[in-house]
Amino acid sequence: MSIKEEQHIAHKTIYLETFGCQMNELDSELVQGQLTALGYIFGDDRESADVVLFNTCSVREQAENKVLSRIGKLGIAKKNGREVVVGLLGCLPEREGKRLLGTYPQIDFICGPSELDRLPSLLHNAMVGEMVSAAERSALQGNRSRRSSSLSAAEDNLELLDLSRAFDPDFRQQSGKSAYVRITRGCNKFCTYCVVPNTRGAEVHRPPDTIVDECRALVKSGTVEITLLGQTVNHYRYTHGIAMNAEGREVPQIGPGISAFKKPIEENQKVTTFAMLLRKIHDEVPELQRLRFVTSYPIDFGDDILNTMRDCPRICNYLHVPAQSGSNAILKKMNRGYTVEEYLKFIERARTIIPDVEIAGDIIIGFCGETEEDYEATRELLRKARFKNNFVFHYSPRPGTVAIDRFEDDVPREVKKRRLNELLALGGEISESVHKAYEGRVVEVFVERLSPKTSQQKGVELKWEQPSIQLSGRTGGDLICVFDVESHEKATLLLGTLVQVCITSSAALLLKGVLQASEC
Ligand code: 5AD
Ligand code: SF4
Repeated sequence: MSIKEEQHIAHKTIYLETFGCQMNELDSELVQGQLTALGYIFGDDRESADVVLFNTCSVREQAENKVLSRIGKLGIAKKNGREVVVGLLGCLPEREGKRLLGTYPQIDFICGPSELDRLPSLLHNAMVGEMVSAAERSALQGNRSRRSSSLSAAEDNLELLDLSRAFDPDFRQQSGKSAYVRITRGCNKFCTYCVVPNTRGAEVHRPPDTIVDECRALVKSGTVEITLLGQTVNHYRYTHGIAMNAEGREVPQIGPGISAFKKPIEENQKVTTFAMLLRKIHDEVPELQRLRFVTSYPIDFGDDILNTMRDCPRICNYLHVPAQSGSNAILKKMNRGYTVEEYLKFIERARTIIPDVEIAGDIIIGFCGETEEDYEATRELLRKARFKNNFVFHYSPRPGTVAIDRFEDDVPREVKKRRLNELLALGGEISESVHKAYEGRVVEVFVERLSPKTSQQKGVELKWEQPSIQLSGRTGGDLICVFDVESHEKATLLLGTLVQVCITSSAALLLKGVLQASEC
């Protein structure tokens, strides 16, 4: 970089706001590390930053509207003379691409989730005002061939971006005690309502050794808990072999690509499955205290994975495995590839092999053609599955999906709203009884933060009363648990550690207890 170029970056402040899933949170973390290393400074003031970046989500319309309203306000500010570079990252620009640049001149550049390694140059060009054409202002997967399974890990800059955090000591320190590690990019499922396969591309699996190295490096710098990320983690399958890159050179294969998890294993071909990957991380990184993963797909989930979870004490007994609907007709329309009976059989299998497993679900309510009967079937599924919590979303028709083209979004808004509220209430009752069953038990809790109760008390003088300090963390089954400690010193000592807590009371989404050292 020339001195002139460096001057453009030095002390420039960036405000980065993230919408959507854990994948986006990880992407934002990586982006922040990458740009910090170049000299940019991240801050929380959107009004005064030199650069505003939105890492966007396209899964539901509401998330997109939020970003577009922010963009609208920035447009007005720019018209009024504010000098700010605006960049749109993630799924929204990948989906809407050039149209956004045309409609919103205040957007300086766009960058899809599979092209984040190109962000520094896009941002730099925007800072020095060198971008003229729309092509120069956009990095989208659609602009070049899909990142393919034939790219070697070492040659793929996106892979290097994933690794950057683990191997950069400065950056590593910011990652904290709990970290995400990506194992798979993209999705091959094509559920009819979902934009993800379009915005994040085809399934590509990262090499197991790279993943283990990344986990090891994170743990070495203080990470206690790692969550493996993928849209369908149980599809993870890495085929060790030889592939050609675009120049015809032999490179190690990064992953098997489309529908690879269904491919038979050929003789002499070495394959690492998800169960093997879990055990490998568990055994080869013994200092890692907690290993979890999201999100699982209800089919293609073998006993090998469940047995590994049962046998490896540091793998958390937690599954997030969305059902999406409790009606077979709706599941078929969604192209989920399983029936309610198969889903429930999976849940039963999981609970038989891992008796104390906790399961969370997702439901989309009001999908095209959903009748009152379909909805009742979903209520029935909830009663049987007994999720520790269940996320419920209104169906939101998304451009580019099969559902928007083929089916009518015919469930009236008020009906969606009623079903959503009723389902949340039912889910709440079930969560309450799941949590109640923990009363009197001792659970291991990973202490994450001061609970909101304590944060609100900060700075409030309670005169003669000794303010109680409440810590909040999660059990292996992902239940939120709070407990009190007597001093800030003690709280600081316990943050980021695993403690034993005896549960004394509970609510729908909360356990409350006392540190086991005290009376239970
Ligand atoms: N409308 C509503 N919810 C959706 N999800 C995915 N696509 C849509 C959509 N078009 C939900 C699913 C998924 C979660 C991440 O978002 O429940 O599991
Ligand atoms: Fe979307 Fe279905 Fe893939 Fe999940 S599995 S990301 S819902 S297409």
